[in-house]
Amino acid sequence: MPAPSRIKTYSRRAALGMIAAGIPSTGWAFLGEPDSLSITRKDFTLHNWPKALDGFRIVHLTDIHYRPGSDEELCQKMIVAVKKEAPDLILITGDFVIKNPSSLSELCTKLRPLSATHGIIASPGNHDRWHCPPGHLLRHLENAGINYLQNDGTNLTIKGERVFIPGLDSIWGGHLDPARAWRGHRKDDPVIALVHEPDVFDQLHPERPISLQLSGHTHGGQCRIPLIGYAPAKVRYGKNYIYGDFKKNDAQLWVGRGIGTVYKDRQKRKHSPLPTPPPPSAKKRYLPSPSGWD
Ligand SMILES: [Fe+2]
Repeated sequence: MPAPSRIKTYSRRAALGMIAAGIPSTGWAFLGEPDSLSITRKDFTLHNWPKALDGFRIVHLTDIHYRPGSDEELCQKMIVAVKKEAPDLILITGDFVIKNPSSLSELCTKLRPLSATHGIIASPGNHDRWHCPPGHLLRHLENAGINYLQNDGTNLTIKGERVFIPGLDSIWGGHLDPARAWRGHRKDDPVIALVHEPDVFDQLHPERPISLQLSGHTHGGQCRIPLIGYAPAKVRYGKNYIYGDFKKNDAQLWVGRGIGTVYKDRQKRKHSPLPTPPPPSAKKRYLPSPSGWD
């Protein structure tokens, strides 16, 4: 009987993927819970997960898009929440910054208190690769104690069992090299792949062994509009898998909704005259509730 691993993901409940795409009523989303976190708990049963690692706890973070001057409170909440979980492993699937590469050093200072029994591993997102000069991500993340993988992989040995973690470059902002990322993988070892853009799943599977791919990029793809529902906002390389868990044969995919936003003027929006949204408890009824979510 394969053993489940516990993945805990953190995201902003009102996250959006593509405000710039002209989705209507976006103000609801931003005004709703600008600095609140939603924690999603999910148990995965992976086909080749070692029984000795039953109950292994992973925290998945993605799309922080840190902005100095407006995201400090949200970032602090995230740090406190993650520490509270005492995870075995923290995995981050990119988009640390939005436009400004200098924000990465401040974010990394804030991330320094994070720790997990078996470390913190990260891969880049398209925004990181678009805006950060060569070496910038590696230098700052490694200084913060985060193992940065860009088309590279690492073997973890936990309780005598091996787990392989490949971290892919962003397909949109960089150059995807799965052959390089999977170097060092030993046949039949379980693989948890860090891949910013979820649609890359279709390129990797079935050629590359994947037990579980973790992705972000889409921010849930949703504009949740009270009384109407939500409309997926599809972004490049995030059209096929927008949100939640997916399975193809033995390979599984988890797409997190992300912490931050790509909206460039959030501070101003917080003080806009748009109507006040319903409180979180009332608003929650408009959210889709796939089975297995809390
Ligand atoms: Fe992205």
